[in-house]
Amino acid sequence: MCGIVGYAGTGNAAGEILAGLRRLEYRGYDSAGMALWNAETRRLDVVKSVGKIDSLEKRLKKELPATRSAYAMGIGHTRWATHGAPTPANAHPHVSDNGAFAVVHNGIIENYQTLKKRLAADGFSFKSETDSEVIAHLIQQCYEDDLTRAVSAALKNIKGTYGIVVISNLHPGVIVAARKGSPLAVGICRDKTIIASDISAIVQHTDRVIFLEDNDILTASANDIEVMSLNNIPISREMTHIDWDIEQIEKNGYKHFMLKEIYGQPEAIADATRGRLLEDEGSSKLDGMQMSAGEMASVDRVLILGCGTSLYSGMIGKYFFEDFADIPTEVQQSAEFRYRNPIIGDKTCVIALSQSGETADTLAAVREAMRKGATVLSICNVVGSTIARETGRGVYLHAGPEVGVASTKAFTCQLAVLAMMALRFGRTHRLSLQRGEEIVQSIRRLPEYIRAVLEQKNAIRKIAEKYAQFKNAFFIGRGYMYPAALEGALKLKEISYVHAEGYHAAELKHGPIALLGSDVPVVGLVPKIPGYDKTLSNLQESKARKSPVIAIATEGDRHIMEHCDDAIFIPECPEFISPTCAVVAEQLLAYYVAEKLGCEIDQPRNLAKSVTVE
Ligand code: G6P
Repeated sequence: MCGIVGYAGTGNAAGEILAGLRRLEYRGYDSAGMALWNAETRRLDVVKSVGKIDSLEKRLKKELPATRSAYAMGIGHTRWATHGAPTPANAHPHVSDNGAFAVVHNGIIENYQTLKKRLAADGFSFKSETDSEVIAHLIQQCYEDDLTRAVSAALKNIKGTYGIVVISNLHPGVIVAARKGSPLAVGICRDKTIIASDISAIVQHTDRVIFLEDNDILTASANDIEVMSLNNIPISREMTHIDWDIEQIEKNGYKHFMLKEIYGQPEAIADATRGRLLEDEGSSKLDGMQMSAGEMASVDRVLILGCGTSLYSGMIGKYFFEDFADIPTEVQQSAEFRYRNPIIGDKTCVIALSQSGETADTLAAVREAMRKGATVLSICNVVGSTIARETGRGVYLHAGPEVGVASTKAFTCQLAVLAMMALRFGRTHRLSLQRGEEIVQSIRRLPEYIRAVLEQKNAIRKIAEKYAQFKNAFFIGRGYMYPAALEGALKLKEISYVHAEGYHAAELKHGPIALLGSDVPVVGLVPKIPGYDKTLSNLQESKARKSPVIAIATEGDRHIMEHCDDAIFIPECPEFISPTCAVVAEQLLAYYVAEKLGCEIDQPRNLAKSVTVE
């Protein structure tokens, strides 16, 4: 989604903002822009471009009237089009009619049409089709002599969500930012302040960050920051230390972040499980859950919420909770949950899964569950993210920053954390010490299992290249392999644009089989776990319709080649570990198909890393 960077410092604002915007590229965007305060002319210079940051950089070089040192304050934005096509006019920053106020905005202004009509009647002229432009004009209209007050007065007219950063040539060196529903973080450095929608743009400057809360308004300069409510009451916000370092957001020799993140999974899982497995107790230690054994023992239903890849890891989590803890577990897509009238009992434990911790639908679902009095835990990767803060309890993945838009290591770490959580619940229910110990040992071996899959890289690459020209594919599986099939299809379509569908293997006969043929390969997930024989029959049905079949099977399965054209092998492992192994194989398969097709793997078209609008 859109990215914001604001900078107030001592010089080269353009360079600093550009570097910050590059760190946000992974979120997905289609145009970019910057507004800078020019100390020579004492005006705001605005440069925008469609496409990548490189093209904004070229324009900045060509179009900025002053030398770079003349700019010590500015705001930048990467836009992911919602209202209006990606054009220079629709790109942010938007500037007020009198040229005095520039604003960048993430979120959606729901009443912008009413505001636009009103402002137009008051004589304001609009240059874009966006909802965001109204904010700039409203600030001009509300301005008397204080920028912060003008921004808070303007925001009182607005319905919807926003993370905004504003500068004005009337207030050199001052940046004002405000948040409602769209994240903003402030990096505390010496001699400069960086405001960004995502800490990736801040970690190269500092590890000390303040996260704005909804309805906060921030007034900042190079050396000072002040947070207030929209009614001008000072507020104190805690500082958070971020443990990500710059190396983690570099490619480190890998061609793509996605490949780096696929390969980083053994280490990420080791980090996610470190200090959390209790061998002797056959359990896990997840302090962030803040639940006593008694509270856990009384939970009689688990409800898992998520979107995208997080939804699919949640579907596998259901199996963990039902298999380890005997607790009936339901998984719901977050948007579906928030717009129904969900049933929440007082013994229901809701678990919100979100890598970014910012997904709008999951956040809204969390709020609804909390309003209904549920115990809500979160499993997030991004420290200090809104979902993590609002739930107040849960477990961080500690997977390190995930930059590739298609989620990989967050998915496998979510599985590790869900397994540990289910184990802990299980030990307060009927799970025996012995079974608990076995589960602990298997989770401990996860990095080793994943390494064994990664070693199949060359074989998987060959298969990917062989099938890359196909336009459609099915992924099928049963039990634990069903959500793994959904995730495999999602990975392939996300990064290679091949139309892929995941199905329960038993559903093949209920429709999809009509589409099978020599031009539609079927990826069958058939490790030696319950359901194996039945899925083999489904592969035979596919072969009988001339579909090429790729099996993801257990190493040493001597008969598998009778049922497929090509096979990818994963190590022999316990049933609950098998989806992790299968998905790592699918990640590599999707990656190499996309590479063969020359796709933009880290930033697929139209996709955003963090979907902060509905
Ligand atoms: C977007 C991303 C997906 C991600 C989903 C949920 O669609 O492109 O990779 O799975 O959002 O994100 P979350 O941060 O809540 O896990």
